[in-house]
Amino acid sequence: MTTDTVVLPPAGALTEADLDPTLDLPAAIDRLRKEKNAIILAHYYQDGEIQDLADFVGDSLDLSRKAAATDAEMIVFCGVRFMGEVAKILSPGKTVVIPDAEAGCSLEEACQADVFRRFRAAHPDHVAVTYINCSAEVKALSDVIVTSSNAEAIVRQLPADKPILFAPDRHLGAFIAKKTGREMTLWPGSCIIHEQFSEKELIKLKVRHPAAKVAAHPECPESILGHADHIGSTRGILDFVLKSPASEFIIATELHIIHQMEKAAPGKVFIPAPGADGGCNCASCPFMAKNTLEKIYLAMVNGAPAIEIPEALRVAALKPLERMLELSVSVPMSSGAPHAAA
Ligand code: 13P
Repeated sequence: MTTDTVVLPPAGALTEADLDPTLDLPAAIDRLRKEKNAIILAHYYQDGEIQDLADFVGDSLDLSRKAAATDAEMIVFCGVRFMGEVAKILSPGKTVVIPDAEAGCSLEEACQADVFRRFRAAHPDHVAVTYINCSAEVKALSDVIVTSSNAEAIVRQLPADKPILFAPDRHLGAFIAKKTGREMTLWPGSCIIHEQFSEKELIKLKVRHPAAKVAAHPECPESILGHADHIGSTRGILDFVLKSPASEFIIATELHIIHQMEKAAPGKVFIPAPGADGGCNCASCPFMAKNTLEKIYLAMVNGAPAIEIPEALRVAALKPLERMLELSVSVPMSSGAPHAAA
């Protein structure tokens, strides 16, 4: 069983039904941000209107660093639940709220702590390198946490004679194993969004757009990565399309990152990579999409859903996260939300 780390709003708390439909939500959220001394953090996979009101938009690594360093009293984490957990593990003295308690992650679901514990026990001489997309309990059972932007740098710093267990994303693990030449035993998990891209449809799209560069997240299967001109974290992909002299790009990751690209490079064309039906909206993460302005407002008013982690679990999960931050010093922090043209 997994520990429930989310405390729901109490009975009698404000609900969506209580909201005045004429309320100017961005203005109301802004007022609350000041009143509560809150910082709003958003992942690039959030809806554009949420990215636009955030204090900082970033990838998983930069959001963790921001959560660890903030002096705000409340962290409003617009992403998915494990990201809120990371913020609370790193900043236990802050109130950490998430807009929707049900915003999970297919990778987290694919790696249950009791099964992971047995997996580790079966490989006692291995070092457990675990992707940040997992529960606090799985973190607590790991030696070091990685994100897509620091995984390669961290794996390169591990003792060369140590075999590696990599969980839960098998595609990211396979990509890092290939790049570093390290032996890795991979957990068989994957992200539902990156898994559904279709190589056949991608080839058809490339034929229709021969000048387009393909940028892909390493959570994509190897069949997709094989067509990529750039492979990197969300922030890496963003940097690539902004620096590239090309004017057309096929983006193989969750499609809401295109919001930042269009803001920063309005003259360039960004096409979401296709799924098996050839359509585009299949790359929208249903968990990230649970967050809305209404829910952000309510979470700030109610101080809930809030992340609360039993102290023993928090301390155990903190260790591999701190190791991640120590081993990531060579990966620079981005300036935030960032790339806005204005
Ligand atoms: P990054 O934020 O490291 O690009 O990874 C994307 C992701 O999987 C978020 O859940």
